Amino acid sequence: MYQGLIHRYRDFLPIDDKSIITLHEGATPLLRAKNLEDELKYDGEIYLKYEGMNPTGSFKDRGMTYAVSKAVEEGAKAIICASTGNTSASAAAYAAKAKIQCVVLIPHGNIALGKLSQAMMHGATVVEIKGNFDEALELVRVMGTTHPIHIVNSINPFRLQGQKTAAFEICEDLGRAPDYHFIPVGNAGNITAYWMGYNEYFNLKKVSSKPVMMGFQASGAAPLVSGKVVKNPETIATAIRIGNPASWKQAIAARDASGGIIDKVTDREIVNAYKLLGKIEGVFCEPASATSVAGFIKLIKEKRFEQGKTIVCTLTGHGLKDPDTAIKNSVKPLRSKATIKDLEKVLKL
Ligand code: F0G
Repeated sequence: MYQGLIHRYRDFLPIDDKSIITLHEGATPLLRAKNLEDELKYDGEIYLKYEGMNPTGSFKDRGMTYAVSKAVEEGAKAIICASTGNTSASAAAYAAKAKIQCVVLIPHGNIALGKLSQAMMHGATVVEIKGNFDEALELVRVMGTTHPIHIVNSINPFRLQGQKTAAFEICEDLGRAPDYHFIPVGNAGNITAYWMGYNEYFNLKKVSSKPVMMGFQASGAAPLVSGKVVKNPETIATAIRIGNPASWKQAIAARDASGGIIDKVTDREIVNAYKLLGKIEGVFCEPASATSVAGFIKLIKEKRFEQGKTIVCTLTGHGLKDPDTAIKNSVKPLRSKATIKDLEKVLKL
C-alpha cells in the first residue's frame, strides 16, 4: 500500500520511523491537458500537476507531513502558522493526526470558506487577525521564539524539503524533467521547493536537464515583479494575497538560475483560466492555482512562448476550497417544477 511521500522518498527525508505523521499525501496525478493544447493551438505537451488531490486538498500536505513529523520527533506539543487558508487546513489536519495542539492565524475576512471549515473541523485554535497574511506571519515569527511552539510556515525548512517531492514525482511520471514549469507564487516557498527538487534529481543524474521556472503572481500582489513590498495586497486569489514573501530571495535565485521569469497576471486572466480548466479539462482548481495556467495563456497570446515544448503547470489547490468564487463566476442553475412538462420547457426541448 502507498504510505505517503516520506516512505516513498525516505532517502531524501530522513526521520525516525516512529515519528512519521502521514495522511498518505503525494502521488498526485500529472494530467495531460490535450483539450487545452487544442484550445491554445499549442503543439507541445501541457501537463497539469493536480495538487488538489492531496488529502486536505492542497500541496501544503507535502511539506506538512514532514514538518509535523519532525516536530513530533523533537517532542513538540503544539504547532503554529499564519495562513491564507491552505497551510492552516493542512497544519490542523496533521496536528489532529499527531494529537498535538495547533494554532492558526488567518487574515480576517480574506480566507475561502472551505479552508476555514477544515481548520475548524480538525480542532485547531483559529484566530482571525485584523490584518493581512504578512502581518500574521510577523506575529508567528515572534510567537515561535517566545513560546514553546513549533512554527510550520515555510520558514520551517522541513516544509520545503517535503514540498520538493512534487518535482521528483513529475520527473518520474514524465521520465524526464519538463522544459518549462509554470507555478503560482505567493509566499514563494513552493517555487523554491520545486527548484530544489529538480536540482537534486539532476545532480543525482536521475534526469539530464532542469526546467525553466516560470512563476506568476496576481497583479495586485506582485512584489517579486515590482521588486517592492506591497503594503496592501489585493486579489481574488486570496491564497496568494501576499505582499512580502518569506522566500523572496530564494524565488529570485530560482528564477535566475533556471533562466526563467516571475511575471504577473490580472484577476480577470486568473478567473478566465480557472473557468477554462473546469470547462474543458474537467479539472476544478482554486483561483490561485489557475495563476500558473493563466501565465502560460498570457505568454501564448502575446506570442512570447515557443511551440513544441513540454510544459508542466502546478495546480496548487482544489476548487472545492472556495465554493463562493466558483458560484459567483458561474451561470446560475435553472429552476423547474417537479414535472416533465416544466422541465422540458426549462430545458427548451
Ligand atoms: N496556491 C495556493 C492554493 C496556495 O494556498 C498558496 C499559498 C500558493 C499557491 C502559493 O504558494 O506561498 O509557496 O508561493 N498559500 C499559503 C497558505 C500562503 O497560507 O496557505 P507559495
